[in-house]
Amino acid sequence: MSLMNNLSTSMISSSSSPFLAPISFNSSRTQSVTVPPKSISLVKCVSTPQEQQTAYKTKVSRNANIAKLQAGYLFPEVARRRAAHLLKYPNAQVISLGIGDTTEPIPDVITSAMAKRSHGLSTLEGYSGYGAEQGEKALRAALASTFYGNLGIEEDDIFVSDGAKCDISRLQVVFGSNVTMAVQDPSYPAYVDSSVIMGQTGQFQKDVEKYANIEYMRCTPENGFFPDLSTVARTDIIFFCSPNNPTGAAATRDQLTRLVKFAKDNGSIIVYDSAYALYISDDKPRSIFEIPGAKEVAIETASFSKYAGFTGVRLGWTVVPKQLLFSDGFPVAKDFNRIVCTCFNGASNISQAGGLACLSPEGFEAMQEVIGFYKENTKIIVETFNSLGFKVYGGQNAPYVWVHFPGRNSWDVFSEILEKTHIVTTPGSGFGPGGEGFVRVSAFGHRENVLEACRRFKQLYN
Ligand SMILES: Cc1ncc(COP(=O)(O)O)c(C=O)c1O
Repeated sequence: MSLMNNLSTSMISSSSSPFLAPISFNSSRTQSVTVPPKSISLVKCVSTPQEQQTAYKTKVSRNANIAKLQAGYLFPEVARRRAAHLLKYPNAQVISLGIGDTTEPIPDVITSAMAKRSHGLSTLEGYSGYGAEQGEKALRAALASTFYGNLGIEEDDIFVSDGAKCDISRLQVVFGSNVTMAVQDPSYPAYVDSSVIMGQTGQFQKDVEKYANIEYMRCTPENGFFPDLSTVARTDIIFFCSPNNPTGAAATRDQLTRLVKFAKDNGSIIVYDSAYALYISDDKPRSIFEIPGAKEVAIETASFSKYAGFTGVRLGWTVVPKQLLFSDGFPVAKDFNRIVCTCFNGASNISQAGGLACLSPEGFEAMQEVIGFYKENTKIIVETFNSLGFKVYGGQNAPYVWVHFPGRNSWDVFSEILEKTHIVTTPGSGFGPGGEGFVRVSAFGHRENVLEACRRFKQLYN
């Protein structure tokens, strides 16, 4: 299917929100911005073992839950291997289609707003210090109308944050250590790792590559990357990401309706991660709150990171509807508010000015152009692997291409690609045992790098 076909969307009648309306990408942005190659410095990995033991030890015992974590967070591990590769091949032109960091400049309409706010801080009239922990009223209102128009989500249900990953951890603090949780397998590693750190799990079981006490909901090509809920055990919390990182699969309205019913029947809370919602090209739901009844069972977390290149700027939001209650009737939003006020002092006022600019008509259009650019990258990657005879998933509604290497070990394929092409990908098994035999290729990259990477893939696998 052509990209333009992919991008044409059908109208969602329930809303007048620009977010829910069909996306039309301005295809004029076909050239990537050429930037001088970055000097590649070694990436420090938190999981790197300390080579030298210090002689003195404190009397503080290590958090036993953190000690349960395996090897290190996936992406630092990928970065560590990339750094090792660069030590081996110092002159290699390494192309990173690995960790999923954005590469294209932030549109000027957005940075101008941040610059203006920033300069204002140097004036008496423009200075502001701590803001509301939940975010600025104007931004919360703009988020509500842009992304949740007619869905019954109100400004005060929205908590502005420094990103979805940070909110995932704050939500875990709200839930505490006594809850059980389910994740899609494979899934974005922050759900599992934060659960382990909170003490919700048992030890890692090497034979099955899973932590005890987590329900892994297998998502494979065979089940259309949507779990067979009849085989899923009840848990308190269900993390669900759509469009999914890493598989790129976006759940249908029918699937999400089943998920909401499953949660309601079990008295569970869904944490719905919609960090890639704007990449959806067809009529699949962009928000869990498009599903009737979801406000009583779901929280949604979202981010400007992959829409506007805010991975470094840091801005996201989480929706906790006031209708969502704990078993004793206490509103989840009140506890989340308490954690936000205790553990976080509000998103940067400069970032929030940027976020507001993203939601202006010009900003929204510019943001969609950036997304359209990455989607064209995705198409190039998908076509490359298709032409080489690989089975490829995702890509249509997400900036990730999920390439199948049946019967092979993901880390072996990762190493083969890195060794022979100097391209960094991400091994599927890093996202859970269900990712074994797959490699994730990210579409975040300058156009010339994506084209060069595809040329190298063709050389390797032709
Ligand atoms: C599914 C998913 N959720 C959350 C995040 C983190 O987003 P943020 O940059 O807002 O913390 C990512 C980043 O890659 C992601 O893939």
